[in-house]
Amino acid sequence: MDNKNKYYVGIDLGGTFIKGGIVDRDGNVLVSDKTPTQSNLGQDKVAQNISALALSLIEKANLTVTDVVGIGMGAPGMIDSKTGVVIFSNNLNWRYFDVASSVSQLVGLPVKIANDANVAALGEVKFGVAKNLSDAIMITLGTGVGGGIVVDGKLVEGNQSAGAELGHSVIVLDGEPCSCGRKGCLETYASATALIRDTKRAMENNKQSKMWEIGSLDKVTGKTSFDYYDTDESAKAVVDSYIKHLACGLTNFANVFRPQAIILGGGVCAQGDNLLKPVQKLLNEELYAGDKGPQVPVVIAQLGNGAGLLGAAALLMD
Ligand code: BGC
Repeated sequence: MDNKNKYYVGIDLGGTFIKGGIVDRDGNVLVSDKTPTQSNLGQDKVAQNISALALSLIEKANLTVTDVVGIGMGAPGMIDSKTGVVIFSNNLNWRYFDVASSVSQLVGLPVKIANDANVAALGEVKFGVAKNLSDAIMITLGTGVGGGIVVDGKLVEGNQSAGAELGHSVIVLDGEPCSCGRKGCLETYASATALIRDTKRAMENNKQSKMWEIGSLDKVTGKTSFDYYDTDESAKAVVDSYIKHLACGLTNFANVFRPQAIILGGGVCAQGDNLLKPVQKLLNEELYAGDKGPQVPVVIAQLGNGAGLLGAAALLMD
């Protein structure tokens, strides 16, 4: 089939929101929208929500199902990208759910799915900051910490696409408990969830902290400690510790893959240089063989939150 001039639905399935967009072959997002995931209402409800979002996006773009090649999805967890089955998702609490078939039946379009961070890496390789790179690592800093590995221009997913779980490498032995069952995973120190947890702890331990100006603990976001970095010791300690742990994980990946770049994605990246500069400094100091080997720049995903959508759509592009 000649897929020229056809469109794609890209879906980024997260623990809280399902984000979607209509994407063309050149990586332009025509329309986009989001809807709550509602994973607490069960997996079938989530499949219905994805399908309803896909259909409403098609309508919003003044298209019909026949104009669309298919639906590409990124989702957290271990996903067999060949069969479309979510084998295990710690974030969505799914075990063996054939979400691709469910959505395909509801919408009447072919569906492809892969791990969300792998898909984000694909987006950056095809349309973003890694367009001209052959070796790159993508790390997404969100509810969890995702990993995408690009070697020689190809996504490395492991057997049954079950690998590349960089967020579940342990950086602190017997450290914080992780939703995967281990302790001390990078995710338990470098996710937005971890940053929020540590900010709340710091506030509870210091009732004089300026961070209390926000009102109450439930107002804490991943931004709070960064906002008070210059004016509050407790906030500074939270950010410094976050950066130290993140840099430790990134340096491990830099030593294993020695990529041309490490790309950071996710909401925490809105901190820009406040995040990048100290992380890069620590990585440079700890990198194997230091400046005697090729350097590993840490960069922010060019497509921002769009990487998930575009990468998902790219699953259906040849
Ligand atoms: C999951 C990964 C996912 C990442 C980002 C982790 O907790 O195990 O599969 O890529 O979160 O969503």
